[in-house]
Amino acid sequence: MSNMAKLVLNGKEYSLPVVVGSEGEVGIDIAKLRAETGAITLDDGYGNTGSCKSAITFIDGEKGILRYRGYDIADLVNGGCRFSEVAYLLLYGNLPNKEQGEKWRYNLTHHTLLHEDMKKFFEGFPPHAHPMAILSGMVACLSAYYPESEAHIEINTIRLLAKAKTIAAFSYKKSIGQPFVYPINHLSYAANFLRMMFAVPSEPYEVNPVFEKALNQLLILHADHEQNCSASTVRMVGSSGANLFASISAGIGALWGPLHGGANQAVIEMLEQIKADGGNHKKFVELAKKKDSGFRLMGFGHRVYKNYDPRSRILKDAADKVLNQAGIRDPLLDIAKGLEEAALSDSYFIERKLYPNVDFYSGLIYRAMGIPTNMFTVMFALGRLPGWIAQWKERREMEGLKISRPRQIYIGQTKRAFVPLEQRP
Ligand code: ACO
Repeated sequence: MSNMAKLVLNGKEYSLPVVVGSEGEVGIDIAKLRAETGAITLDDGYGNTGSCKSAITFIDGEKGILRYRGYDIADLVNGGCRFSEVAYLLLYGNLPNKEQGEKWRYNLTHHTLLHEDMKKFFEGFPPHAHPMAILSGMVACLSAYYPESEAHIEINTIRLLAKAKTIAAFSYKKSIGQPFVYPINHLSYAANFLRMMFAVPSEPYEVNPVFEKALNQLLILHADHEQNCSASTVRMVGSSGANLFASISAGIGALWGPLHGGANQAVIEMLEQIKADGGNHKKFVELAKKKDSGFRLMGFGHRVYKNYDPRSRILKDAADKVLNQAGIRDPLLDIAKGLEEAALSDSYFIERKLYPNVDFYSGLIYRAMGIPTNMFTVMFALGRLPGWIAQWKERREMEGLKISRPRQIYIGQTKRAFVPLEQRP
């Protein structure tokens, strides 16, 4: 492969450096394009734009590969990794050894409490506030309690990872009018969260090991996904020098949308809709093919994967296991499987390479655990947190505080004369 690409513009030839990644991905470096040619590149939606070089996560969307720091996600999940170890891997580049892992877990469990004053904020939210609104607000608020300097980044990373699940569980307790349940240090990340969500002070609570294992898997599968909408948001906001909490809060906002993390909630709502309509999934496959219906199969399709999303494969099996082991019969799982089968054998979906994505089965597992639908995107955010922080840190460490500032091709009015109010038509 040549290390230069040629561009001809207005009859003049320019050479552009070619950058090749460690997995053979090829990028044309256009950093000096405007300075040399006066032109910029235009890529609406950034589908062909590499916004950075990154050493965290590798995806091959055509082959359906997802690796964190070189490790295949299926190996991490099936190898019995804890979510906390995967967080360490993403942040520091390697899996922790025994000693590092113990110290890391100690830190994560000893920063889970919220400042007692922060609890008062929950009182101000209306009872039906969306938990994503609470999560993004409270995460931004952490910066008021833990101001940041370069020396505080490490401890603030630990605080954020440790406290986010407490905030998430408190937001649920607030919504159902139950007292907050405080974290317990000897429990795993997943078990601690489930206990804070579902325990009540009036009776003992045992964490279901099936749910603990499944939640650990779900969190790992969501931990990073390279330069998606929310990670790019976090990097972009961080590039201005905004602190870690503010940057992550912005990422939570980006994740909230139904085309991103909000899709897991939308999937369950769609499955409920199909069930209420009599369960005829084929009718909805047909509806999704009609552009003017405004209906899309939620949990299908992905900007990067043009093959089965590898996370979805693992989650399909996990959904089966969790429901079986917990003795739950959920008619939505049958509808989901039927829908998948019908879509995957339909030429519309085959031609467009639309496969189930991570959101298609995750909601069914959350549902089995008793997690309400409006908390699903919060669950996604908890899993994605280490990835966002790793992306934020990498951006800072590689590029310093160089602000991200894309350009545009202006297509609006050209200069026109000002018209005083009384003369306007
Ligand atoms: N149902 C029906 N048709 C679809 C779907 C779908 N779920 N997804 C894409 N298509 C069609 C589009 O209409 C388009 O058809 P056309 O070429 O005839 O116009 C073609 O497939 C390509 O779709 P785009 O929207 O251009 O693909 P893009 O890469 O921009 O979008 C996205 C990806 C947003 C995920 C899309 O597939 C979608 O809306 N899916 C449903 C929402 C969803 O599940 N989001 C979660 C994404 S994963 C995540 O964030 C964790």
